[in-house]
Amino acid sequence: MRQLILQKLVEHPGKAVSGEALAHLTGLSRVAIWKHVEALKQAGYNITGIRGQGYILRDWQNVIDSDRIQMLLNTRNLGDRIYHVNETKSTNTTARQMILEQQVPEGTVIIAARQTGGRGRQGRKWHSPVGGLWFSVVLFPRLELQRAALLSLVMAVAVARGLEKWTENSCQIKWPNDIFINGHKVGGILLELSGELDGLHSLIVGVGINVNNSVNNFSSDLRNIGTSLVDETGSTLDLNEVIVSVIESMEKYYDSFLKGDDNLIMDEFRELCLHLGKEISIDLGGRRVKGVNTGIDINGSLLVDDGMTEHSITTGDVHLI
Ligand code: BTN
Repeated sequence: MRQLILQKLVEHPGKAVSGEALAHLTGLSRVAIWKHVEALKQAGYNITGIRGQGYILRDWQNVIDSDRIQMLLNTRNLGDRIYHVNETKSTNTTARQMILEQQVPEGTVIIAARQTGGRGRQGRKWHSPVGGLWFSVVLFPRLELQRAALLSLVMAVAVARGLEKWTENSCQIKWPNDIFINGHKVGGILLELSGELDGLHSLIVGVGINVNNSVNNFSSDLRNIGTSLVDETGSTLDLNEVIVSVIESMEKYYDSFLKGDDNLIMDEFRELCLHLGKEISIDLGGRRVKGVNTGIDINGSLLVDDGMTEHSITTGDVHLI
């Protein structure tokens, strides 16, 4: 009922919805409506009640609400459990602790409104203020370790496709899993695996997407390379609706991968890849390879032809020349 009331208010942002209309919609008394509205306010929603007019919802887009996500979500099991915190160091670290301390079902999602020690690939920091989407998904795939590298690409395709609804299909991928719009990075993925030689035990997929956190508030070094959905689309988006699209897409591509449909993933990766067929350079920790990116192989490695040799690269940072 609470979600029904909220949905009605979301459909009329900044406008008064009468208690009578809400009572009619839900079949509840006006006192019961008032109680639900108070609970929504407690959950962080900015709702003003005006006597004789009704309830007005404002600035709801950055309120992360796991009940709302679950109501909107249409998945098999991804997101069946959602843990939402206002602040944590890193959702990937929280996920790891949870796996160590308790039974965590596959598909559990951990979301934070902000991270104080967000982590990026290659040991970098990840700036994570309120307004962005910072979450981790816990998976337990039964896989040999060598197939796990491909998961990086699977998740990149999934996130890029999941954002298409909000970005007019303009997302691209920089290998292995940076999400770009119009040449600027809008999101990234940090995959953390634990396993032994016999195979993978757990996988934490950490996803960071700049949504309503505008680049105007980024530090000067990040401002030129990054972007956010609000900067690209001009609209403040509902974080809950955006995460729903991304989670649904993650499940879809993860399922294809588990079924062994690697060709679908490779084809989509190639279609979305920012630098395929282009001249790139790639840092390999001290050594740099320069050449044309001729392809991606079935293990997810990047193929770079420097004119003499075709290098197969498993890790590194791509730069377009
Ligand atoms: C990158 O592009 O370097 C990867 C960035 C990944 C950031 C996300 S935000 C949620 C999760 N928690 C973290 O500390 N990192 C990932």
